[in-house]
Amino acid sequence: MESKHSSDSQVVLGQFMQPEHANAIGNVHGGVIMKFIDEAGGLCAMRHARRPAVTVAVDSLRFLSPVHMGDFVTFTAHLNWVGRTSMEVEVNVEAENLLTGQKTHTNNAYLVFVALNLEGRPVEVAGLILESEEERRRWMQGAQRQADRLARTHRDQEGAA
Ligand SMILES: CC(C)(COP(=O)(O)OP(=O)(O)OC[C@H]1O[C@@H](n2cnc3c(N)ncnc32)[C@H](O)[C@@H]1OP(=O)(O)O)[C@@H](O)C(=O)NCCC(=O)NCCS
Repeated sequence: MESKHSSDSQVVLGQFMQPEHANAIGNVHGGVIMKFIDEAGGLCAMRHARRPAVTVAVDSLRFLSPVHMGDFVTFTAHLNWVGRTSMEVEVNVEAENLLTGQKTHTNNAYLVFVALNLEGRPVEVAGLILESEEERRRWMQGAQRQADRLARTHRDQEGAA
């Protein structure tokens, strides 16, 4: 299978925040932001794998600032790391106040997706071509996060047994 560049699968999803997205205090509900993060991440993973991809882990999802009604919000997703069937996607969220033009980085999240075959089983994905120092740094950090996730999962499973 031919390896691909991270830029081949990058996704930018734009959403205008409206009253239906509000929480009880009039800002955008955190769950709405989480849904779009998952959607942008999943699209990025599917673009790379050219297969259906499911979310297997979400970590380090931070809410740095509130998102307001009327903001135009962009969810930018790119691949950091790929394993055999799994892929780590980083999603960054930016809210733009359409009246002032001010842009605020509101969220940063790491998600892992697994590509599935027609039987719903994990299937091998293409490799990732690393060209820049930045891409190599992201890969190393993504590999470390994935090793930490799997170690946590094994600890949890042992604790539950
Ligand atoms: C994704 C799924 C098919 C994987 O099945 P599985 O039997 O665990 O398969 P494997 O053990 O072969 O793992 C597949 C890959 O997932 C990775 N993985 C499994 N659990 C993981 C976790 N907790 N965190 C990160 N990666 C994980 C494995 O390391 C492996 O990656 P690799 O092939 O790159 O080495 C299965 O866990 C599943 O169906 N989960 C539900 C997914 C879903 O419905 N998501 C939507 C949320 S509502």
